[in-house]
Amino acid sequence: MIEPFQLRCFECTSMIALLEYVINDLAGISEMYIYIIWSLCISCFFFHMTQGCDASVLLNSTSKQQAEKDGPPNISLHAFYVIDLVKAELEKLCPGVVSCADILALAARDAVALSGGPSWNVPKGRKDGRISKALDTKQLPAPTFNISQLQQSFSQRGLSNADLVALSGGHTLGFSHCSSFQNRIHHFDKTHDVDPSLQPSFAASLRKVCPAHNKVRSAGSILDSTVTTFDNAYYKLLLMGKSIFSSDQALLTTPSTKALVAKYANSQEEFFQAFAISMIKMSSISGNGQEVRHHCRFVN
Ligand code: HEM
Repeated sequence: MIEPFQLRCFECTSMIALLEYVINDLAGISEMYIYIIWSLCISCFFFHMTQGCDASVLLNSTSKQQAEKDGPPNISLHAFYVIDLVKAELEKLCPGVVSCADILALAARDAVALSGGPSWNVPKGRKDGRISKALDTKQLPAPTFNISQLQQSFSQRGLSNADLVALSGGHTLGFSHCSSFQNRIHHFDKTHDVDPSLQPSFAASLRKVCPAHNKVRSAGSILDSTVTTFDNAYYKLLLMGKSIFSSDQALLTTPSTKALVAKYANSQEEFFQAFAISMIKMSSISGNGQEVRHHCRFVN
């Protein structure tokens, strides 16, 4: 087992050791382990897209304010306890030094690396925010967005078309609930019950797990076939009509975004390089941070 004491605040180049220590302690190494820490990455996306990098997504709701994490689109954000454990270990080592926003950015990087993806240098020194509003999640891109809505949503945050395509590759791992892709498999439009861009047998398998009046809240689908490996399978499947969200399929609707999808489907190396660059860019979107929280769920 790796001792967390090997880490010294920002002198450590990676938090992998700490994450491994914490998760080893919890459940033992398993595919679930990779899955749990990777699902942290979605929080990095959500928190960058709402308040900027200030870890507002980690704050609990209060009696006066429903927090972002309790907003409707955030049903997938379930791995907060891992961040809590990492924060607790870091507070023992160097209290008040490492912000929750930096932990989130580092955890996202390490989750990707641990599941076989690229690694990158995370710029540090973010501060944690004191405000988290569920209503802010309305600004998030929706899985039903078309390409112009996606482009607008990304460009408002200084992110380009290239960032959009590379970051959508984040769907190489993880899970979606039926509600997020229901629009594609039932009552798609006036003439089609099912989105015709979906590969028929794939659509049939999605309809099987998510029937029209699905009552199973936890039902859904993995986002790509290699669910615990960070790879370029997402792009290959996308080209085969096997993507989960309309927003994924939308990447094929302009020549420039489609060309990028084809490029990453052909070259995992190019995808990894582009993903790392875009993650650095996304995690540098400035937030409204003011403090280093003692506990990630509460303001000081
Ligand atoms: C392009 C705009 C994006 C849209 C519209 C979008 C939408 C979604 C939706 C609807 C879900 C499923 C939620 C659920 O039903 O449980 C999801 C899951 C996920 N997304 Fe995205 N996403 C986008 C971009 C990103 C980015 C940039 C990343 C990270 C770099 C990312 C990483 C993930 C991960 C890891 C999951 C799975 C989470 C889990 O298994 O719990 N997404 N996304």
